[in-house]
Amino acid sequence: MSLFETVAVALWAMLPAYVPNNAAVLAGGGRPIDGGRTWRGRRLLGDGKTWRGTAVGVLAGAALAGVLNAVGPAVSSALGVDLPTFPLAAGFALAAGAMLGDIAASFLKRRTGRERGAAFPGLDQLDFVVFALLLTFLSAPEWFGSVFTLEVLAVVVVVTPLLHVGTNAIAYALGLKDEPW
Ligand code: CTP
Ligand code: MG
Repeated sequence: MSLFETVAVALWAMLPAYVPNNAAVLAGGGRPIDGGRTWRGRRLLGDGKTWRGTAVGVLAGAALAGVLNAVGPAVSSALGVDLPTFPLAAGFALAAGAMLGDIAASFLKRRTGRERGAAFPGLDQLDFVVFALLLTFLSAPEWFGSVFTLEVLAVVVVVTPLLHVGTNAIAYALGLKDEPW
């Protein structure tokens, strides 16, 4: 595969994992998942992880996988790249894994004394990637193996933090997010 093809496949395959966090920012609010519960004097997850944000995030990511399947053939021939289609399990796993990673990161942030919204460089940018890939590997191992080659994984690990920093800065500038990370 050329570098262009590798980057195109990596971005395409990860789109259902990229969208949930942004959808959650737009949809968030209402009851926090931890219901206000604390552990060792600190919130379990905090007010930044809500049922509504999580549900909308997962559904948005999974729905996007369906849209990508519909437009995939046209985009593939326009780019001259063989883009992957998403089995239902893979679309859901990418989206749910991304939300799960973000929730796990909040759990870690609270355990390390960071208040809601505090930055945790490294974790903030890669938490959702690791969980999205892991859950997809577990849910659709053959599909995972055929799409996420070592080259594609390397591109994902390099490009995702850049995209994450970029989109969050935009969301912050637009007033959608309280912090630029
Ligand atoms: N959000 C949500 N549910 C989620 C993830 C995000 O409702 N599962 C919404 C919340 O309104 C949250 C916003 O998206 O405030 C931004 O998400 P994020 O940066 O992940 O949360 P923070 O508020 O920064 O909290 P934390 O420190 O726990 O990351
Ligand atoms: Mg945050």
